[in-house]
Amino acid sequence: MIEELKPQEFVKIRDLLVSVCGIVLNDDQDYLVETRLTEMAHEVGVNNFGQLHDVISKDKSLLTRVVDLMTTNETLWFRDQSCWVTLKEVIVPHLIEKLEKGQFNVKIWSAASSTGQESYSLLILIKELLAQKNQSEYFNRFSIVGTDISNEVIFLAKRGIYDPFTISRGMSEERLNKYFTKERKSYKINEEIKSRVEFKNFNLMDSFIPLGKFDLVLCRNVAIYFSGEFKKELFEKISRALVPDGFMMLGATESLIGIDNNFKNLSHGNGLYYNLG
Ligand SMILES: C[S@@+](CC[C@H](N)C(=O)[O-])C[C@H]1O[C@@H](n2cnc3c(N)ncnc32)[C@H](O)[C@@H]1O
Repeated sequence: MIEELKPQEFVKIRDLLVSVCGIVLNDDQDYLVETRLTEMAHEVGVNNFGQLHDVISKDKSLLTRVVDLMTTNETLWFRDQSCWVTLKEVIVPHLIEKLEKGQFNVKIWSAASSTGQESYSLLILIKELLAQKNQSEYFNRFSIVGTDISNEVIFLAKRGIYDPFTISRGMSEERLNKYFTKERKSYKINEEIKSRVEFKNFNLMDSFIPLGKFDLVLCRNVAIYFSGEFKKELFEKISRALVPDGFMMLGATESLIGIDNNFKNLSHGNGLYYNLG
């Protein structure tokens, strides 16, 4: 039996989490530590969360598991309609135009990819817009890097196989038939789509320089978990990871209000997006 989480143990685990991945737990989120880490405490063989903290602080592989358990990986296909209208009507056409004007390839970063739905949805959209313009030959000139701190979600994103429930969250029947192959009870994203994305483990606290420069960065539904200070640093690093006419997109409920930054706000219908002005 694991002893109830004590306030000082919560603070220790919360501080550890901030230092490892930037995620800030509020004072009333002690229940998250209890619900998500109790099983692990049993497995590791400790009696309380103080001991668990001490064990995970010293063992990198256990710390990786804690990050897997404490991150919120909620995602779905074509999440937030207003973002996808902006991508469809403004951003992707602009990216295609770059190719028409002679740019050799377009690089996109899904900076908190979770299990891959955001990257695969975007590739489906790109494929459809290119087909409409009889420019399907450009598809192979697009590439997406999908990154996430959680090893578990990166494994699933790379695999690209989704159960019926996951598929039902935003994937239309028509697209399902077109871009997936049925494998027993699950659905596997087609190779042509999959070949344009590389998923890898990456911590947004690290330097972005090794990733190179991007025409578009999607940083959706992740900054909400970070402190104001880390958000400022994150958007500063993203601005440096964009080409001069690059775009950034946040989640539909997110904005840069209250964060010191050098982005210019742009809007299309209900959708917000950003460039470097
Ligand atoms: C709620 S999901 C968002 C997924 C997708 N972008 C969307 O909007 O549907 C947030 C993701 O951010 C990841 N994450 C949290 N902290 C991170 C960090 N420091 N570095 C990289 N990824 C992080 C989590 O593992 C999680 O998969």
